Amino acid sequence: MTTANADLFTPAFQSDPHPVYARLRTDEPVRLVTLPGGNQAWLVTRYEDARRALADPRLCKSGVLAPTGPNTLIDPSVVEAMSKHMLTADPPDHTRLRRLVSAAFTNRRVELLRPRVQEITDGLLDAMAGRDELDLIDAFAFPLPIQVICELLGVPAEDRESFREWSDTIVSGVSAGERLPWAFASMLEYLRAMLARKRVEPADDLVSALIAVSEEGDALTENELTSTVFLLLIAGHETTVNLIGNAAYVLLSQRERWAELRADPELLPGAIEEFLRFESPVETATFRVAVEDVELGGTTIPAGAAVLIGLLSGNRDDRRFADPDQFDPARRDNAHLAFGHGIHYCLGAPLARLEARIALGSLLDRFGDLRLAVDPAEVLWRPGVLMRGLTALPVTGLR
Ligand code: HEM
Repeated sequence: MTTANADLFTPAFQSDPHPVYARLRTDEPVRLVTLPGGNQAWLVTRYEDARRALADPRLCKSGVLAPTGPNTLIDPSVVEAMSKHMLTADPPDHTRLRRLVSAAFTNRRVELLRPRVQEITDGLLDAMAGRDELDLIDAFAFPLPIQVICELLGVPAEDRESFREWSDTIVSGVSAGERLPWAFASMLEYLRAMLARKRVEPADDLVSALIAVSEEGDALTENELTSTVFLLLIAGHETTVNLIGNAAYVLLSQRERWAELRADPELLPGAIEEFLRFESPVETATFRVAVEDVELGGTTIPAGAAVLIGLLSGNRDDRRFADPDQFDPARRDNAHLAFGHGIHYCLGAPLARLEARIALGSLLDRFGDLRLAVDPAEVLWRPGVLMRGLTALPVTGLR
């Protein structure tokens, strides 16, 4: 049995992709699909194949066009200044870029953020208290990570609404149409002005540290700097919004879980790994290109073809996880692929976990009566192939 391409990437698929992925894993675990923008890619849906593909040096990043695909009108010079970062690079460039950024984006810098993450969280929860009903994405899941990443990088808080607009547009990719080139150009103009400011007046932030970082005379070029700051902004907030939003959705649509976690906060770290597995914030890894014919799961991916690796699908594979469609905060052996695998494994995973623990721990603690204000099946999921997240999460019970 085959799954029709028409069943993929539709609003119905987006609201519940799991049965479709389960069919693909059984019938066509590596299959050619046509994406919403019209491009084609080989979609990998089983856990073991996905893990192998993520670590396969024959599936490369060089040669992948603009982060949003070839069918856009983005000025080539803008693409050049936004795509020279580690997530579009292969070794040896990748090794060098990742080493330079890791030297500035240290665990110490992440740990130092802990009190600020708590403070920002408390401020947002204070503002929510007493309201009848609100959108938890808008009031909480979105503003927290953007404030944190802006503080980490040294971007003034008053600019965060502009960032939301630009990055939302960029992440929705080709479906954003003519707004896409505008969003890229606006973001780049902003980043260049910010870098110029920090060169003259460095501060104790990650952008200043990235400017300063140099190793045996090897520093980041101007395009690598704009690209890296851009990557951290996008990777550091859209993803974490989805983790917090999806986690709240899981807990509120299975309300007994909300009560269970409130009663036993020790379950929280394991629960966060389980949210990452169960409704993975990043649905598919970023595109790769096969540099030669690659055999995977019994199928040959031809040289030159684009490859899309299903993280959400792999994380629900019953060949790897017992009862994968059950949310189990006490699950052991939870080696999910939500942060990727191999050389591109998420550099921000410690920060994402820190934010999620503080955000969800404080939300649970503060609002014992929190409830969904809509039927769980009515919530809307974001369009696009890469991300799995809600457009809104109406809640009530904030008194
Ligand atoms: C829940 C939150 C997050 C999730 C689920 C997530 C997921 C991922 C995934 C799946 C990849 C690999 C993509 C691929 O191989 O194609 C990745 C890479 C990356 N992530 Fe995250 N991420 C999260 C948060 C963050 C944060 C907070 C930051 C930084 C502030 C960050 C920075 C990065 C960077 C720099 C890379 C590229 C690493 C490389 O190419 O070597 N991420 N992330």
